Amino acid sequence: MMGDGKRTLVLLLSLIHHLMRALVCYSQPGNFVLLLQNAGIASMHTAVTHFNTVVFLDRTDIGSSLINLTNGVCRENPNDRVSPHDCTAHSVLFDIATNTVRPLFIQTDTWCSSGAFLPNGTLMQTGGDYDGFKKVRYFSPCPATGTCDWVESEKELLAGRWYASNQLLPDLRVITVGGRGVFSYEFVPDQGLGQFDLQFLRDTNDQWNDNLYPFLHLLPDNNMYIFANRDSILLNFYTNTVLRRYPRIPGEPRNYPCGGSSVMLALDNANGFSIAEVLVCGGSNMYAFSNPAGQFGASQTCGRMVVTAANATWEMLTMPMRRNMGDMVLLPDSKVLIINGAQNGSQGWMDATNPCYNPVIYDPDTNQFEVQAATTIARVYHSTANLLPDGRIIVAGSNTHEFYTFTGPFPTEMRVEAFSPAYLDPSNDWQRPSFVSYPSVIRYGDNFTVSVALPGNLAGDIELTLASIPYTTHSFSQGQRQLKLAVYPTQSTSQGSIFIVTSVAPSYILAPSAYYMLFILHNKIPSKAVWVYVSF
Ligand SMILES: *[C@@H]1O[C@H](CO)[C@@H](O)[C@H](O)[C@H]1NC(C)=O
Ligand SMILES: *[C@@H]1O[C@H](CO)[C@@H](O)[C@H](O)[C@H]1NC(C)=O
Ligand SMILES: *[C@@H]1O[C@H](CO)[C@@H](O)[C@H](O)[C@H]1NC(C)=O
Ligand SMILES: *[C@@H]1O[C@H](CO)[C@@H](O)[C@H](O)[C@H]1NC(C)=O
Ligand SMILES: *[C@@H]1O[C@H](CO)[C@@H](O)[C@H](O)[C@H]1NC(C)=O
Repeated sequence: MMGDGKRTLVLLLSLIHHLMRALVCYSQPGNFVLLLQNAGIASMHTAVTHFNTVVFLDRTDIGSSLINLTNGVCRENPNDRVSPHDCTAHSVLFDIATNTVRPLFIQTDTWCSSGAFLPNGTLMQTGGDYDGFKKVRYFSPCPATGTCDWVESEKELLAGRWYASNQLLPDLRVITVGGRGVFSYEFVPDQGLGQFDLQFLRDTNDQWNDNLYPFLHLLPDNNMYIFANRDSILLNFYTNTVLRRYPRIPGEPRNYPCGGSSVMLALDNANGFSIAEVLVCGGSNMYAFSNPAGQFGASQTCGRMVVTAANATWEMLTMPMRRNMGDMVLLPDSKVLIINGAQNGSQGWMDATNPCYNPVIYDPDTNQFEVQAATTIARVYHSTANLLPDGRIIVAGSNTHEFYTFTGPFPTEMRVEAFSPAYLDPSNDWQRPSFVSYPSVIRYGDNFTVSVALPGNLAGDIELTLASIPYTTHSFSQGQRQLKLAVYPTQSTSQGSIFIVTSVAPSYILAPSAYYMLFILHNKIPSKAVWVYVSF
């Protein structure tokens, strides 16, 4: 899409840029910034909405939080084991533009719950503990100045689900899988189908569990990849048939309470979206949870597997440091950020030590890990990390105590930070693209066009990535997926630096109908995302 002269110029500028970086700073890439000193709650579950707000959600039976409900509202709940009369909030809405929070009202206990965004942009949250065990709640987001709040549904789950995982499906239902002592899955809405027994969850439930918050990845063939403990299967959830069993991952258990994490690497139009690769990183020694005093070293390995390959086998990788409770975030450039967590112990109250202050970024193309600049804030049990539309990662929570505890080691963490990967360095602005126009709706099967401004009349490699918005808790981002879309280049318009890029919408299986962030990348440097609604 550009002449040789221009390409040489781009390469030269890029070379100078890298030389300057190497000379000027030997420091580690990326940086943390404190966004808010006191969010009022420690977020155990976090989700970004398409109104550029972020839902922070903790649990109700934790005593008073540090933020009051407004307008004299209080929660009267004789069944609450701590605060039957509670005038404080246990969920807040964070506004990305102003770094402020507004209290939200939840009625029942959301502790260790699951969630997914519905096609209409509403966050559906399912289950929890105690009086919230079977609850379904909706948060329909609104502009940051609005008053939207949680609504509890009359309709309950079929089974109480505490530590389950959710995924939005191509047919617009949500599947919710597992939970403590629950060896089944169900759909919301359930359409009278009942729940489906899943022997795999029983088989992977050892004496310390190690199978909670199963990792779910919806594959391009419309089957569900499910990983629990050290094993994984391919499930046809339409017929309740286990189609495949994958080899056991070497090393430690990876699910709660061992606190590994998992992503499906970006699906790529370059292979017709036919290849799906799963990356599972970190975990804890099998005996760490039952013997916290032992403070056993966490896992230092990741397993990577092409789950669509007939001969699927784990390729094992060594991370720069040990980690449990790491959050894995798919970045706009399709690399994987691994952030938060600890190097010893396991999940559970006060069960970990030796926090991982340095995130790492894994590059799936080179198989290399790069250690990132450190934070000063320990983010251990019950912490979260989520991609924002501007390319930063919002980092919240960390509470390794049963109640809010601000003394002693690892006090309950109310601070909110953002981590900015190196692609956000101002030194990259000379080639950062930005959207000039884009469709707000992308329809399956249709081509669509965006127009893009490139500074300085440059033109290098252009890529488009579509990123879902996950519900993040306990080191797993439920519903996280990313697609590298086709780019049909393009003619430059008379404006010179404005380029028209044509792409084709992915199928409803690859990208179930929902709001997505659409990023444009120029020489791997991402723009700010725009929100697009992907639909039939
Ligand atoms: C919350 O309300 C209580 C009781 O009215 C008051 O004592 C406290 O200062 C308030 N807290 C905040 C953070 O506003
Ligand atoms: C989205 O759908 C849910 C579930 O049917 C419903 O509760 C909610 O009100 C809807 N939200 C909007 C904005 O229409
Ligand atoms: C953490 O684990 C490492 C690796 O097993 C071990 O060498 C170290 O002693 C452990 N730290 C603590 C505090 O137990
Ligand atoms: C799996 O099969 C593919 C295609 O035949 C081959 O390229 C690849 O090396 C094999 N991988 C393993 C781990 O055997
Ligand atoms: C989309 O655009 C490509 C490239 O111009 C073209 O080959 C294809 O036929 C178009 N598809 C549709 C559905 O218009």
